[in-house]
Amino acid sequence: MTHRKQARLAILISGRGSNMQVFINACASGDLDAQVGLVISNNPDAAGLQRAAEAGIATCCIDHRSYSSREDFDQALVEQLNSTQVDLVILAGFMRILTPVFIAPFAGRLLNIHPSLLPKYPGLHTHQRALDAGDSEAGVTVHFVTAELDGGPPIVQARVPIVPGDTAATLAARVIEEEHVIYPVAAQWYLQGRLTLTDQGAYLDGNPIPVSGIAHTPDLR
Ligand code: GAR
Repeated sequence: MTHRKQARLAILISGRGSNMQVFINACASGDLDAQVGLVISNNPDAAGLQRAAEAGIATCCIDHRSYSSREDFDQALVEQLNSTQVDLVILAGFMRILTPVFIAPFAGRLLNIHPSLLPKYPGLHTHQRALDAGDSEAGVTVHFVTAELDGGPPIVQARVPIVPGDTAATLAARVIEEEHVIYPVAAQWYLQGRLTLTDQGAYLDGNPIPVSGIAHTPDLR
């Protein structure tokens, strides 16, 4: 009998780590056929670091303030990740702009989640910007990371309604529930070998993914 080596995830965080926790739980329950090998934070005070350590996962802080350039910081990330086997890198609320120094070595195996219906609202304050614009819906996008900020090919997108009286906080709470559903789905596609990034964009099962990503539905697998 042959034993396939289990895929290893590295998760990069800057804060609370609720998406990270979803991955830890999905790996522990077997819903994801992978293990979380390493959690890295750029922020020594990230609450997610403690959550990961409590789950018995190796953690590491690479404080961006110790580096004089984005490239030097990115090089330190690359070296840390290269010191262990990593099959897929998950950015989960990692609030640093990355340069090609980091992105190039992990191209095609680097995912991000962004709390807007990309290409709308790349960058910060997405929920407030959706409210200020009078949008009737908001949402979240999982996408491949490329050198363009929040601009890599979308993979999957979930929508939520904006309701009267919404604040950025109430909207964020509605959106994050969807984040926790769609991010592991996209990762599972990758781990199953179904999801690829080419120069032409993202593909699932050999078919091009629409520019707004695959629309999330409750039975999406
Ligand atoms: C999530 O809402 C994620 O989409 C967002 O940060 C939050 C992290 O929450 N990411 C970005 O804004 C990236 N541009 P978490 O730490 O609880 O997972």
